[in-house]
Amino acid sequence: MDDFIIMWEWFAFAVRWLHVITAIAWIGSSFYFIALDLGLKKSPNLPAGAYGEEWQVHGGGFYHIQKYSVAPENMPNHLTWFKWESYATWLSGAAMLMIVYWLGAELYLIDPAKADLSVFQAIIISAGSLLVGWVVYDFLCKSALGNNPTGLMLLLFVVLVVMSWGYNQIFTGRAAMLHLGAFTATIMSANVFLIIMPNQRIVVKDLKEGRTPDPKYGKIAKLRSTHNNYLTLPVLFLMLSNHYPLAFATEYTWIIASLVFLTGVTIRHYFNTLHATGSGPTWTWMATLVLFLIIAALSTASSWNGDYDDLENQPLTKKQESLMLAKGFDDISDIIISRCSMCHAREPVWDGMINAPKGVFLETDYDIVRGAKEIYIQAGVSHAMPPANITNLANEDRIKIVKWFRAAVPNKLLN
Ligand code: HEC
Repeated sequence: MDDFIIMWEWFAFAVRWLHVITAIAWIGSSFYFIALDLGLKKSPNLPAGAYGEEWQVHGGGFYHIQKYSVAPENMPNHLTWFKWESYATWLSGAAMLMIVYWLGAELYLIDPAKADLSVFQAIIISAGSLLVGWVVYDFLCKSALGNNPTGLMLLLFVVLVVMSWGYNQIFTGRAAMLHLGAFTATIMSANVFLIIMPNQRIVVKDLKEGRTPDPKYGKIAKLRSTHNNYLTLPVLFLMLSNHYPLAFATEYTWIIASLVFLTGVTIRHYFNTLHATGSGPTWTWMATLVLFLIIAALSTASSWNGDYDDLENQPLTKKQESLMLAKGFDDISDIIISRCSMCHAREPVWDGMINAPKGVFLETDYDIVRGAKEIYIQAGVSHAMPPANITNLANEDRIKIVKWFRAAVPNKLLN
């Protein structure tokens, strides 16, 4: 328990757990309301001001839901708001971004072969891009283009493609995918926080004070909601992509990420049509399949190995230097290169392996000090690596890894 790195690892797991739970709650409620909205039926018995109704059965009871397009005549006594699902997803996601990509910037965010950024510069770009993304998006929605939803969507797609390309120019492929996801998800959450909720509050205030609410607020919210609807699935792909080097570690990662946004539209379009009319178009699945096959083909068209010739001469951080100078490093280096590098190489020699798993390279001394914490956790304190101990890493060697790491890196959080 005295090992801060282990506690920190558990903290990171807890935040990830929270993030997945809140995201399920957000996406679940958002899918539910979209389907509900599309399935509303007119009925002669609707109260004044109601737009449609729907009967549903779930968990042993029947639900009778009526939607008021703008608002009911009087403010109801009890009103349930749906906002914390979104906020909590964004907040826990931002925490994950900081834990994994800011505190682990040297390993996961910065790719010296693409841009030799300092940790501070990389973090500024990471945070700044998310903020600027929202400002640009919001500006476009509020411009005259806002009256032309299809044109707006096309332009937003272009923005996403440019961002995808841009992120891939400066960050590791893994961070590029993740940032494109965070860029999009920030827009989605900000839509809820800065547009949909404030507009809803105006309507509620009008109701309370006996005014008739202006329908324009509902319309604005609907536009943002529609964007969120089409962006949900691509964001999930981007968030999960870091498990699949074929998605993030190739030269065409930026095109793959762009195409994923199109599958988000084709898949959602099927379900939106299904919920509205009772049957969905099959062409959308054909289009999705074609997109997916293009993505698969692109992923192996050329693998991105970067310009790593100068790897041995990279400047080392203080921590990396002390790891390299620590007693027994030569031994550790031999162990890692003989037990790990067949898979974790820029060109893996392991049968059937195309890219280094998770983009983790372990074939030079520099790689080893750069990935020291991960080696410590995956192969020292736990037996996660090598998988099923397939390359016979001896227990004595695991102990050596632990001793080497603990001697060189004292129990401090950020050193
Ligand atoms: C037989 C191939 C193979 C060997 C040998 C191997 N690994 Fe891995 N490694 C993998 C695979 C596959 C994954 C991805 C696992 C996953 O997706 O959960 C991985 C993932 C990792 C990760 C990333 C874990 C994460 O969740 O981010 C690290 C770090 C790692 N390995 C370190 C090592 C170390 C250290 C060794 C040597 C002691 C080693 N590996 C040996 C195949 C291998």
